Amino acid sequence: MSGRLAAGTGMKISTITLIITAASAFQIAPAAEQPGKALVGQHCQRCHDNSIFTRSDSIIHSWPELQARVEFCDNASQAHMTEAEINQVIEYLNDTYYKFPKP
Ligand code: HEC
Repeated sequence: MSGRLAAGTGMKISTITLIITAASAFQIAPAAEQPGKALVGQHCQRCHDNSIFTRSDSIIHSWPELQARVEFCDNASQAHMTEAEINQVIEYLNDTYYKFPKP
């Protein structure tokens, strides 16, 4: 009797563990693919937070404008990111906020 109870409990715990493991894997995957997120967190919060990317009177209306703005703000922030890092930031901002068609 007590043996059967223990077996049943064990199965429930491993099911829960499996669900938690699967859920964390889904959370980690997109973050790992988006190195631009860390760069924005590191370099861009001094003057504005991420809410500026969704403001209703956005000054960004296309991929080239986003590209130009990130380069401008890279200079303004004196972050001196590499071209690869700037592209990662553009990709991250576009995937997360702007959703322009990629040229
Ligand atoms: C020295 C201050 C400063 C820093 C640091 C800065 N920005 Fe900006 N950013 C601004 C200002 C000011 C505006 C608003 C310009 C306007 O309204 O004409 C702006 C606006 C923007 C916009 C346009 C938002 C929209 O949709 O209207 C983007 C995109 C942007 N910044 C990206 C970045 C990124 C990426 C970084 C980090 C590399 C960064 N900014 C760091 C000053 C800064």
